Amino acid sequence: MKLTGVPTFLLLVTYLTDRCRGSRLTCAARSKRHQLLDLCSHLKLQRDVGARTEKRSGDQVRVCRNMTTKPHLEKEPQTFQHVPDRKVMVFSAYYETRRKADGPAIRIIACSWQAAYNTIGDLFCHMWYDSYDYAISVGPAIYNVIYPSTLFPESWCSHFIICRLPRGIHGVPYAVSVGPRRCATPKTMLMVLNRKRRVAQPNSHALCISPLYNYFHQWKMVIEVFEMHKLLGAKEITIYLHTAGVTTLKTLQSYTTDKTEKVNVINWPFPQSYDSSVNCQRAALNDCLYRMGYYHRYVTITDLDEILVPRVTETWQELMKLVAKPDIGVYMFQHVYFRRNTSKEDPYLITQSSFWRTDEVTPPGKIRCKSMYRADNAISIDLHFPYLLMPDAVEYLMPPETAMLHHYREDPMESFYKHPERYHYIEDRHMEKYKNRLVQAFKARKGAVHKMK
Ligand SMILES: *[C@@H]1O[C@H](CO)[C@@H](O)[C@H](O)[C@H]1NC(C)=O
Ligand SMILES: *[C@@H]1O[C@H](CO)[C@@H](O)[C@H](O)[C@H]1NC(C)=O
Repeated sequence: MKLTGVPTFLLLVTYLTDRCRGSRLTCAARSKRHQLLDLCSHLKLQRDVGARTEKRSGDQVRVCRNMTTKPHLEKEPQTFQHVPDRKVMVFSAYYETRRKADGPAIRIIACSWQAAYNTIGDLFCHMWYDSYDYAISVGPAIYNVIYPSTLFPESWCSHFIICRLPRGIHGVPYAVSVGPRRCATPKTMLMVLNRKRRVAQPNSHALCISPLYNYFHQWKMVIEVFEMHKLLGAKEITIYLHTAGVTTLKTLQSYTTDKTEKVNVINWPFPQSYDSSVNCQRAALNDCLYRMGYYHRYVTITDLDEILVPRVTETWQELMKLVAKPDIGVYMFQHVYFRRNTSKEDPYLITQSSFWRTDEVTPPGKIRCKSMYRADNAISIDLHFPYLLMPDAVEYLMPPETAMLHHYREDPMESFYKHPERYHYIEDRHMEKYKNRLVQAFKARKGAVHKMK
């Protein structure tokens, strides 16, 4: 087709701007010229169907009669798989049931080269079912930016790839492959997780911790943070592992091999040489939201030096009894900074020796907060707060008297030493109420780590 005159062009520009400003980018082309042409025909298609929907042509289904070898997957690969001819890596796949979140669909956690998002090219999903001999191809998939980095467009960033389930086929696929063409030999393979319908335990909590990287070596901190969160009520802990030192690895192994613990270590081997925002960590956090939200109503996302602390109750469960409402999608805990104290006490526990904190939340509001999600109300999340909740869900900013985010950062953030006059510190020994149990649990785990070879 041909571009004819200014109006079409303007329409295209508006369309492009619209598309690329929103969180859902659905672009298909191999070159800039092709891109315009494709978008043009796309535009025509949308005019033809009479409505501009975000879903686009994402539901086209083909039976791949030449794909009869069914994959056998014992466990998920937990690695980044390159989609051929596309600057896209896929990591994991989840069954999405929520209609208001593009379901029923397979939601794929991916990391992609952001500068290519307009030219990324179509992506097709191939799905395998227990009860069906052929692969089913669906697509082009919805290509959905989780985090558009305006500061660093030339980097790998977190995406969802969403493939709507074909109607009329019974069941949920057990494996999915993402490829650049329909019915092409699969070069990626993901196990579909969360396949069975299940209702998460009410008032059950999971903790997700961002990937450890840079050969993380503070293994005692790992123990303290895990044990502290168990006291707060985390029933399951999932941590992502990029790189860690030998003793940290041993510590993690000591937890994962202990049948009385519910600790998962998810390998996150993001390629070292790729530019990204901390190893595409937002993809890890979104992965965790879906991974843990399947079992637990609440999923809390933090870094290792942060704790969401109830100030009027002892546990997260009791806290939720006070404040929870079904339409709340996120509980945002405001930030207070605790000066890290490196005392010589044995055992040295950060939470039991760092007692001086800013007298107020800094800054007030959600900017530096950390969040506890009601998982079934959350769709995509950032490090601090949600990007997208379910259409009817609302945000809740936790009053600091009720609960707050304790941040035990190793060195103060820039503004703390640049503008010391802005901050006043007060002594806050709140965490001592966990001290005896924490010390006991810490010593037990440290002993177990030492006994390992
Ligand atoms: C299946 O057939 C299609 C269409 O002819 C072709 O493009 C594709 O490469 C074939 N796939 C395999 C796995 O041979
Ligand atoms: C550091 O910890 C030691 C031992 O627990 C304590 O005596 C001291 O007051 C703490 N200092 C600060 C600034 O918190």
